[in-house]
Amino acid sequence: MKSVKAFAPATVANVSCGFDILGFAIDAMGDYVEVSLRDKPGLKVISIEEDGGKLPWEVEKNTCAVAIQAMLDSFGKQVGMDISLRKGLPLGSGMGSSAASAVAALVAANRLLGDPFEKKDLLPFAIVAEKAACGAGHADNVAPSLLGGFVLIRDYHPLDVIKLPVPEGLYCTLLHPHFQLNTSDSRSVLRDSIPLKHSTIQSGNVAGFIAGLYQQDFGLISRSMRDVIAEPYRAVLIPGFYEVREALKGAGALGMGISGSGPTLFALSEGADKSKEMAKAAEEIYQAIGLGVDVHFSAINTVGAYVLEEK
Ligand code: HSE
Repeated sequence: MKSVKAFAPATVANVSCGFDILGFAIDAMGDYVEVSLRDKPGLKVISIEEDGGKLPWEVEKNTCAVAIQAMLDSFGKQVGMDISLRKGLPLGSGMGSSAASAVAALVAANRLLGDPFEKKDLLPFAIVAEKAACGAGHADNVAPSLLGGFVLIRDYHPLDVIKLPVPEGLYCTLLHPHFQLNTSDSRSVLRDSIPLKHSTIQSGNVAGFIAGLYQQDFGLISRSMRDVIAEPYRAVLIPGFYEVREALKGAGALGMGISGSGPTLFALSEGADKSKEMAKAAEEIYQAIGLGVDVHFSAINTVGAYVLEEK
């Protein structure tokens, strides 16, 4: 085998109540990475498509290369590889763009080496890449992009990652307004400490959300989609946030929140039926404030990243 191409899906991190500890993968979009063996040692980024010329090609900065290098360091043998990235995800969108690139690169490179690592064991390498991309080694995008479904990061030290059930019929609508918000900027507005009462509220909601997934209780999921830690500080960076939320709830959403660090907003619904109406209600608001928006409809992706092609 000389070359492997892999796909990794977009993700919604935080899911309102689970800042840095909860995320899920979506079916609608993702990134593609092809990794080929090269004669000379070392990694080289040989092509990047659909990024508008914005992503770095240097191996110390490119998330695909950083992730593969971390994997090779652990593998204990430096194998030369060429890396080609095709972005399916917009940059700085809050849909786990850097995570999908790193995860697809890892899945492809691991297969090229003969799968020495189990899928879940690729996660620490993806976190190294995430840290290089945005300054914080959060796993709530990379873990669901790799593993699919809803994923809980119970602890980071040591890493303890738990796959959660996906209730039948749970559906996601994504609203991606036409502007970029970098995760590092969106993290810089957060506070270092939170009041005790907010910790209580947030713990109750994240526990309630997870119970809702296990019990397939859409009412409980809906009641638990509340964030008092990050959303109040980030909502001001996203024009129309509160108006869109009201409109979506009125149109039947279980809840709406910021997808990861934004500016994309996500809404969950029971089934796909209400999603068109929800999107229409949101589009009217974006139109009124003069902001373009892309709407994506998606079931929850339960498989995560996978190999597309081997040559
Ligand atoms: N948990 C991260 C954050 C996700 O909210 O900053 C970034 O996509």
